[in-house]
Amino acid sequence: MANGRAGFWRGVLWVILLEVLAGLGFYLFVSLGGLPMTADAQPGALETWAAHVSMHGWLGHHVPHVPDTVAVNDQTLMHGAALYQANCAVCHGGANYAPSELRNGVYPGAPQFVHVNQEGHGEHHGGHHGHKGPDDFGYYIIKHGIRFTGMPAWKYSMSDDDIWSVVNFMQNMDHLPPDVQAAWQKMPMSPIAPQPASMQMNSTPSGGSGSPTASSSGSPAK
Ligand code: HEC
Repeated sequence: MANGRAGFWRGVLWVILLEVLAGLGFYLFVSLGGLPMTADAQPGALETWAAHVSMHGWLGHHVPHVPDTVAVNDQTLMHGAALYQANCAVCHGGANYAPSELRNGVYPGAPQFVHVNQEGHGEHHGGHHGHKGPDDFGYYIIKHGIRFTGMPAWKYSMSDDDIWSVVNFMQNMDHLPPDVQAAWQKMPMSPIAPQPASMQMNSTPSGGSGSPTASSSGSPAK
């Protein structure tokens, strides 16, 4: 009996000792630079797996079904196009169907959303969830961003209506009304992204309901 109890406590001590050693080992590994921390490092299989599983687990349990508050019409599509072009095209590709040069500068790379709808130009990666364009997943992701990636949370700079305008625009970007499509093509893009020679940097979006920068309608979302 006494022997058994002593054995039990010896076992507990061993477990604690091993855990401390494992913790120390991990600390040494990390503090000595074992984990590559640059954006261009390729993560290992375990990290990739963990990121995917937690992303899907999180999305599966936390995305509320929120109704789209913005009607889809030429005016709101134009507004969404201006917001997209000013804030998103730099990473996700713009109106000229050229993939963003920054797409590979973040890890994981930014999916290119601009659909192939003009003579096979451009590329579209479809996103992780097999969605054509974002809906309430998109709304949630745009609002809150994606941890450990380059995808920012836009809730500090965009109102809910702005976010829905972008979502609606993205869902319709491959079959826009001709006037919206034409206006989108002329909108200035971030200077980092590729520009066709014909595109004027000083052209302003025609139509639309306000400035292309964020927070142009209503107060920022909570
Ligand atoms: C600094 C670069 C950057 C900017 C700017 C940016 N994003 Fe992203 N975005 C990313 C990256 C990187 C991912 C992919 C993250 C991942 O693989 O989990 C992403 C993912 C997404 C996704 C999820 C795609 C999917 O199905 O996996 C949506 C939707 C999205 N972005 C929309 C937007 C919108 C709308 C804007 C502008 C308001 C925007 N992003 C601006 C980098 C950016």
